[in-house]
Amino acid sequence: MSNKKLSGEVYFPSEKVIENAHIKDRDDLDNRARKDYSGFWSEMANELHWFQKWDKVIDDSDKPFYKWFTGAKTNIVYNCLDVHVKTFRRNKLALIWEGENGESKTMSYFALHRETCKFANVLKSMGVQKGDRVTIYMGRTPEIIIAMLACARIGAVHSVVYGGFSVESLAERIEDSNSKVLIVSDGAYQRGKIVPLKQIADEALQRCGTVEHCLVVKRTGQEINMEQGRDMWYHELMNLPIATQNSALEIVDSEDPLFILYTSGTTGKPKAILHTHGGYMVGTYATLKYVFDIHEEDRYWCAADPGWITGHSYIVYAPLLNGTTSFLYEGAPNFPYPNRWWAMIEKYGINILYTAPTAIRGLMRFGESWVNRHDLSSLRLLGSVGEPINPEAWKWYHRVVGKEKCPIMDTWWQTETGMFMITPMPCVPLKPGSGTKPFPGIEMDIVDESGKSVKANEEGFLIIKTPWPAMIRTVYKDDERYVSQYWSKYPGVYLTGDSARRDEDGYFWIIGRVDDVIKVSGYRLGTAEIESALVSHHSVAEAAAIGLPHEIKGNAIYTYVILKSGIEKSQQLIEELRQHVSHEVGPIAKPEHIEFVDSLPKTRSGKIMRRVLKARALGQDPGNISTLEE
Ligand code: WTA
Repeated sequence: MSNKKLSGEVYFPSEKVIENAHIKDRDDLDNRARKDYSGFWSEMANELHWFQKWDKVIDDSDKPFYKWFTGAKTNIVYNCLDVHVKTFRRNKLALIWEGENGESKTMSYFALHRETCKFANVLKSMGVQKGDRVTIYMGRTPEIIIAMLACARIGAVHSVVYGGFSVESLAERIEDSNSKVLIVSDGAYQRGKIVPLKQIADEALQRCGTVEHCLVVKRTGQEINMEQGRDMWYHELMNLPIATQNSALEIVDSEDPLFILYTSGTTGKPKAILHTHGGYMVGTYATLKYVFDIHEEDRYWCAADPGWITGHSYIVYAPLLNGTTSFLYEGAPNFPYPNRWWAMIEKYGINILYTAPTAIRGLMRFGESWVNRHDLSSLRLLGSVGEPINPEAWKWYHRVVGKEKCPIMDTWWQTETGMFMITPMPCVPLKPGSGTKPFPGIEMDIVDESGKSVKANEEGFLIIKTPWPAMIRTVYKDDERYVSQYWSKYPGVYLTGDSARRDEDGYFWIIGRVDDVIKVSGYRLGTAEIESALVSHHSVAEAAAIGLPHEIKGNAIYTYVILKSGIEKSQQLIEELRQHVSHEVGPIAKPEHIEFVDSLPKTRSGKIMRRVLKARALGQDPGNISTLEE
């Protein structure tokens, strides 16, 4: 580590933390990775099992369609399960699960391997083949992990839709992915109530015609509709002779698709980000190992949902690749009381907690005494993801939860990056609110409109200049969109869609999205999705959505609605529209505020100028409005 004095408020790691850490000097690793980037990643890859090694680490012959570990044969699930079952980890816990209602369950690596093989054979018997897409729509129970792994094991491509999404979002994603199989739970417990997932799925299935089989996991047990010939119970299938423990493993090419995950973009419909087996496996494995400093005896908890990229990479794949013990919790953080999380950390002796700023701010609001009722001395490391963490929340997390001894890994990354990109490591001096610097070997920059690097502390567009193993391969079925969205503003470099600044010490500070993506409670939503849900209501002519700062959620959704002529404005209609968005997109998209207006600011070509709406709502100067229609 350089001895240069760092500016601002700095938290240095203790000697004990450094002593324990895999990496004791990040600059050293960074230099090594820069000198020999391919060598660095092949070293990481060599810690995993391959049925056949690669010819090339990075293949850049068809930029920006980069390929990694070409020529290699593997399967990520083999490295997640089979490898461990052959060692002492066979009896180690892979998973500790607690339901919101207090039920709990544990699974060893042996058990998770068995259940995955069985379900893989069930899927095969339904005709699911390599390359087929399977949609998964479930709550946070072990079966969602089994379902994902079973798909990947047979080379099928999973498409998980977050359980907080609703009818239209689900229908659209099933249809776009052309899934013939849907795996769903009857319901999920959330804040003491049941989210009727199967019922929502039934409605979605009426809007799209691709699904032939719907496999239903029983969780909540309420009466549900089971359509003869289409719907089957998971537990019944798993008891049939077809559910053998045969390996069912498909050995795949490094670049074969692993999953698609829909995410909101700048315009139009959500796009499916495609990730592949080999590079994704190496990238997620190495980043978790070095950033969260995984040790054999750890109990690790990533409190995200498996339905988002954080869950895919850091609940499901990376922890299993590292052979660690993960904790999964089904429900709400404050149910039945605001001490729920802290009680579980104590109960299970969690060592690493990885969550989002919005959750920290939400729990902070209940006061320290809820945390202090519990012994959190098992905690060793903390993490944050999803949106910028304000220094006040960072310090509370550090002092009250981490008792000033746990470094906070503020990890910046995206669905598209698949793995941490800007991140500290435990040995790195921290500044509250900054993710510090890019992961070793990765070059990132902040540039102005013309692509020139901006000066220290100036705001600009955040870009990535080197390919990385877990990078997005394309937008599923839409190579053109992949190129235009990410690689066109500045040829040859990847555009993140975020704005950021870098301080005099080279530390990155994320400011936020510069496109029409809104981060609400860390969830990524597009203005277009909210607007199209509003417009699908019979009384709405036009709508615009923006994000405005919110104390706990980070951003809250504000919408402006032009009603069809003759429709009466009323408080009741506002409530109806909010419910409508919730029903179509999901409760996470429910607007905080709906205002009826007579016109919307538009460019001469008819595009809504959300920037102007935002400035008006914040009482700021809208800036350059020369393109405004009137
Ligand atoms: C934001 C989530 C600040 C950012 C893993 C990014 C963050 C978007 C951070 C991707 C962080 C994520 N600090 N902002 N540590 N992590 N973001 O695809 O705007 O759901 O572009 O992936 O979240 O959101 P996504």
